[in-house]
Amino acid sequence: MAKEVLVMKDVSKEFKVLKRHEGLKGSIRDLFSRDYTSVMAVKNVSLTVEEGEIIGYLGPNGAGKSTTIKMMTGVLEQTSGEITVNGLVPYKERTKNSEKIGVVFGQRSQLWWALPLIESFKLLRDIYMVPEKDYQDMLELYRSLVDIEPILHKPVRQMSLGQRTLSDILAAFLHDPGIVFLDEPTIGLDVSMKAKIRELIKGLNEAKKTTVILTTHDMGDVDALCRRIVIIDEGQKIYDNDIDHLKNYFGSYRTLKLRLEDGSWHEQVIDENKTDVMHVIQETQKKHRITDIQLEEISTEEIIRKIYEGGKAS
Ligand SMILES: Nc1ncnc2c1ncn2[C@@H]1O[C@H](COP(=O)(O)OP(=O)(O)OP(=O)(O)O)[C@@H](O)[C@H]1O
Ligand SMILES: [Mg+2]
Repeated sequence: MAKEVLVMKDVSKEFKVLKRHEGLKGSIRDLFSRDYTSVMAVKNVSLTVEEGEIIGYLGPNGAGKSTTIKMMTGVLEQTSGEITVNGLVPYKERTKNSEKIGVVFGQRSQLWWALPLIESFKLLRDIYMVPEKDYQDMLELYRSLVDIEPILHKPVRQMSLGQRTLSDILAAFLHDPGIVFLDEPTIGLDVSMKAKIRELIKGLNEAKKTTVILTTHDMGDVDALCRRIVIIDEGQKIYDNDIDHLKNYFGSYRTLKLRLEDGSWHEQVIDENKTDVMHVIQETQKKHRITDIQLEEISTEEIIRKIYEGGKAS
């Protein structure tokens, strides 16, 4: 049986937020009274992740993804439930835990701002006591996956967002951790940099069998990297299975794209079991001249959108 790298059992996180009252009177009242409201950011989430998996941890804004990642990495302590990462309790054994994990929070670099990347690498090598040979091998692996020369001698502060993200990911993998947490690693990046980052993550996962927990709003990341996805909504886990399983479930759904005379494309998702595609085309033709038709399988993006909308409605 594969090794379980991360186990969460019934994990919840409650934030207590001080209620603020308006105006001067309110501010004075706030000084003396302590009115708290509570936000249940994560509710009874259980999750088991095996060695080498890349999990897409998905959900709409505010669903509780980052809060979960923070508990997994020991930044936050859960309110209830149990978490073990590499057999350790993250918030209790933070130092030991950090030796075996890597973390990238998109947009926020963990690197030394003024130092050339290679100097940051050397510092990390020393901090984590990476043997010289392993360090050199890792640099070699990096070189085989991505062109690192242009950024190696650049101070992080002079880097573009894409170069910085690349650097952050390389730094997170440098000590060969068993598991790496990536919180929106491709946010704000252009199409070609996204592709580079995805190839890098995939290559590192394959070469090192590193487990990856990835949060993202970009379904391109999911298509490129994740076989299994976990979806949370309002703190609760609502889906946990292979992405193929979802695609089968939505097997009768198609995206119908119609191009009209003005050149614009009109898209709609159709369940072929319920709606006749020809009928939709005929109805549209009554009002517009159709110049092109495409019928495609439903995309991951649309599947996830349907699930989010369904989750909200229920
Ligand atoms: N430190 C905090 N104090 C109080 N509430 C918080 C705190 N951090 C997060 N929350 C609340 O917890 C909920 C979950 O937030 P979280 O950042 O985990 O969402 P997310 O899924 O990462 O969203 P996004 O996709 O926007 O990054 C939100 O309602 C948020 O306002
Ligand atoms: Mg977040």
